Amino acid sequence: MKTNRLSSFVLHPCGPPRVTCIPSKHRSAMPFVTSWTRGVGAALLSHSPSTSFSRGEDGRPSPWHRWRFPFSNRRGAAHCQGGGWQGGGIDLSIPAGHATYNLYMPVTIYHTGGPGDLPPYLQAVASSGGLSQGVPLEPSAEIKIKPIRSLLSVGKPQMIMMISEFMEEMNKGLALHAADPSAHWDEKKCCFKMLETHIDHIPTGSEKGVYYAVDVGGTNFRVVRIELLGDGKIGKTSRIKRDLKQLPPAPEKPKGLLDASVKQSEFFGYLADQVIQVGKHEGDIAGEGLEGEASPVLGFGFTFSFPTQQDQKNHAILSHWTKEWDTGRDYTGTDECIEGRDVGQMFDDAFAKKGGHAKVHGVINDTVGTLLSCSYENPHLPPVYMGLILGTGSNGCYYEPKYKQYSYNGKLINIEFGNFNRSLPETDIDKQVDADLSNKADVGRQRFEKMVSGKYLGEISRRFVCSIMADKLKGTKAELIDSLKSEHASKIVQDESQNLEITCLTLFEQWGVTFSLNELRAIQEICRLVFDRSASLAAMSIVAVALKADRIGRNAEGMTVAIDGSLYTQNPWYQHRLKQHIVDIVGREDAQKVHLQIADDGSGKGAAVMVAADQQA
Ligand code: GLC
Repeated sequence: MKTNRLSSFVLHPCGPPRVTCIPSKHRSAMPFVTSWTRGVGAALLSHSPSTSFSRGEDGRPSPWHRWRFPFSNRRGAAHCQGGGWQGGGIDLSIPAGHATYNLYMPVTIYHTGGPGDLPPYLQAVASSGGLSQGVPLEPSAEIKIKPIRSLLSVGKPQMIMMISEFMEEMNKGLALHAADPSAHWDEKKCCFKMLETHIDHIPTGSEKGVYYAVDVGGTNFRVVRIELLGDGKIGKTSRIKRDLKQLPPAPEKPKGLLDASVKQSEFFGYLADQVIQVGKHEGDIAGEGLEGEASPVLGFGFTFSFPTQQDQKNHAILSHWTKEWDTGRDYTGTDECIEGRDVGQMFDDAFAKKGGHAKVHGVINDTVGTLLSCSYENPHLPPVYMGLILGTGSNGCYYEPKYKQYSYNGKLINIEFGNFNRSLPETDIDKQVDADLSNKADVGRQRFEKMVSGKYLGEISRRFVCSIMADKLKGTKAELIDSLKSEHASKIVQDESQNLEITCLTLFEQWGVTFSLNELRAIQEICRLVFDRSASLAAMSIVAVALKADRIGRNAEGMTVAIDGSLYTQNPWYQHRLKQHIVDIVGREDAQKVHLQIADDGSGKGAAVMVAADQQA
């Protein structure tokens, strides 16, 4: 049955709305009430008064209609007086002393009629307990939010300044590479690493065949097997996906395989086992025995999403961990550490120990994988000039037409822009987040990434919220570092419900704290400001690359930006804001030349596509 949302209101300890004496002439409107989330026992009162209205969850006729509250397993009850609509009513109050009594409980009323059928008693409900959208913040909250708003908004002059500094750093990095391609990165000379990628073939979309990739460096580790069908199409894809933080051999360690005490041989040994498992399962690596001996070596693409120095396509020396990875750091200076060593070689060594079934064909950054997979899948879009990651971390690569002039072998350059450090609109809270990192080796590094990427946005939001609600949040979970993850803040940012019901539930689940609607609005605004600043900085990086590559401006032909990472792909609100910031910076005409394309899972798929493009060039 089609229903119309009529009104939302909130059951609150201090005055639950009551509905009594529904006049029989309004029976045709047949209102019903639902609890608002997850659909668990959603219909509190059915639209069919004669049947389910008077039945409990156990099916027995009862004036007490029980349903599950959205919070954990608690239950509440709605009291139906009079056994039906006629002459009856609904009492939505929660009995005093009931487990849910002190919870902030949004409830939504729906009805089946049009707006003209609105029964007056429901208007009364809406006006007694109902809270409508668009109500401005209370003056006291507004006063506290105002300075945060100005701290987190990046004005156009500052944006323009940052764009020109960003381009300046790119040019400096290119010149340094041209002068000495094998020189080690010196942060004092340039904040970008402008890394060699050895990518000589950009896929055309016509590649075909079955290819493998391993993707390490985001929240999850993946082994991907894809079948390329040509014409930009991908057929069967199979994969395994694991959270390395949750994995053996160190289950007691909170960071799992990312822990400093895990040796490189354990780490790569585990990854090699996973590749062999998929290869055997799919019949691409033969099992034991004679057949196994004849099996060809599987060459796969390795996406490794960290800064590396590459003198060959399949050799990549890890400069240093980012995103708070620590694996092998307890063995610094030995052959069991990873930083400063060749990850391609260590992976190959792990395969050699296990029978040599597979070998690294090439190591690429996730930004490069994203650009390559998008080029394969979208042969009809404007050329893909930029690969962008907006996920746990944040970084970009781009196509440099003059790569030979700057002594690069590869056409793509991994900027490693997370370390951009000029004219940053940093606040005290950003500085505290950085200073409080558990591994002091990471402090002061990647400051731009810390303002943009998903790893940090939840924590920045949490600290701003605590700064304006210190008394209320004292002694609660809200005071714990990382108690609001970016994925939760992302839900809050996108919450369009009238009474911020998703925000209310998310915060209750994370912190066990309930908030008034006004407080919820303030919290949502803080999260939006933090996410919006991230979107504006990401837009700034796109504009800088588009200008550097001459793809916007008069007579320029435009470009596609391939984007992967859940901060962007899972958040349409963020996508919209990012586009809007580009419009604000360069105007509508040039903004239209920048095509933003989601490359879902592109970082992993791209490594498989790279192998195909190399073999079929
Ligand atoms: C970090 C890494 C970079 C990667 C990015 C996105 O910034 O240093 O290599 O591309 O995260 O995962």
